[in-house]
Amino acid sequence: MTTKIKLTLVLLFLAFSTFAQEKQRSESPAQKEKRMAWWEDARFGMFIHWGLYSLPARHEWVRSHEKISDKAYQVYFENFNPVDFNPVKWAKEAKAAGMKYAVLTTKHHEGFVLFDSKYTDYKAPNTQAKRDLVREYVNAFRAQGIKIGFYYSLIDWHHPDFTIDRFHPLRPDDNKPDSVWDNLNKNRNMARYRKYLLNQVTELLTNYGKIDILWLDFSYPGKHGKGKDDWGSVELLKQVRRLQPGIIVDNRTDLKGYKNAEDFETPEQVGPEELMKYRGKTWETCQTFSGSWGYFRDEKSWKTPKQLLDLLITSVANGGNLILNVGPTARGEFDYRADNALDSIAYWMHANNSSIYHCTYAPKEFVAPANTRLTYNKETKRLYVHLMEYPSGTIKLVGAKKMVRYAQFLHDNSELKITWDNEGDDLIINLPTDKPPYIIPVIELILNK
Ligand code: GLC
Repeated sequence: MTTKIKLTLVLLFLAFSTFAQEKQRSESPAQKEKRMAWWEDARFGMFIHWGLYSLPARHEWVRSHEKISDKAYQVYFENFNPVDFNPVKWAKEAKAAGMKYAVLTTKHHEGFVLFDSKYTDYKAPNTQAKRDLVREYVNAFRAQGIKIGFYYSLIDWHHPDFTIDRFHPLRPDDNKPDSVWDNLNKNRNMARYRKYLLNQVTELLTNYGKIDILWLDFSYPGKHGKGKDDWGSVELLKQVRRLQPGIIVDNRTDLKGYKNAEDFETPEQVGPEELMKYRGKTWETCQTFSGSWGYFRDEKSWKTPKQLLDLLITSVANGGNLILNVGPTARGEFDYRADNALDSIAYWMHANNSSIYHCTYAPKEFVAPANTRLTYNKETKRLYVHLMEYPSGTIKLVGAKKMVRYAQFLHDNSELKITWDNEGDDLIINLPTDKPPYIIPVIELILNK
């Protein structure tokens, strides 16, 4: 091929890629709604935090919390040997629990990568695992029909060019003058780190097929902090959307207000009662079973099955998603507490997932009775009443104004007799004395078209 033809082809490619880039930047609200529709309908995903921090087993921030040196942390790299890693089992548990997408930490703040990156030796193929663990995760979850997400930490406590900041394990003690910080960072070069970051995100979005979600984490601008300029966030997002035009990206690159940058808000570990304030926005609350994202052997603060279901139901009742985290052990398994939690969710979701998928908050005409949550499917015109506490005898839906044709329990489609009160303004639903065998029973109301 002559040089002239080659040059022409290169120029054509550059012109196309620029156009594609411009096209991305000009995505219309309707196009964004279409791109995100599957995610908003899915409502429920699995977060998976897994890395070297699973060995110390006392929080994924252990290296920062305990200010562990590179040398001292190397023991976990040397002993990372996930002999029980079975992503097919992980994927089947996620599917049974009703999780429609999954997001795996390809790299967390510690800097260790689970994939076969050509830009670092600090990676799973160089441990006793001897292979690309992200590849196996992608294949297993895709085979179960679960959408694929990657978490990638913008932070990197291992990379020699990542400047020491207020979270870095090698940070100086409090209140040291700037001269101490400058000296610590004199040989570190964030421009080189930005190139490394861009190269690895490019590998992730090039080598594993269609990626549905990218979860970048996190920005902390301010003194001894890092934000969009440190990450090169504008260029990074352009590259992300160029490589994967349909991808959905979180809001932690410090680009609030930038067009086509961030797709959803990420309220983290908030209580169900705080979720009301996100109604009307596009959001996903990220939550753990306990307090730690990474496996924490001795943590006792595990949420009950009811608390977990409350998070899921209340998220949907306020028009948002829940991504629920599992921290696998260093052997590569979900521990018994995670298995038990997922099993209880699976049992409930098998019978009641119609009140979750494709649902959102109820029309304002419906007022949730005490100790209930309402969700609504506008396509099927079904209203769902989640009984957080089981009432005795009847439950009243004030102001339902004859909008309901029929009522049943969702889990077995058994009829619930309805009557009207207050001159037809209020609906009375008659309930059996015995509570059905579900932590949170759900009433399905079929509305008049
Ligand atoms: C916070 C934590 C990080 C965790 C993330 C999950 O950023 O620092 O460890 O991965 O939340 O949302």
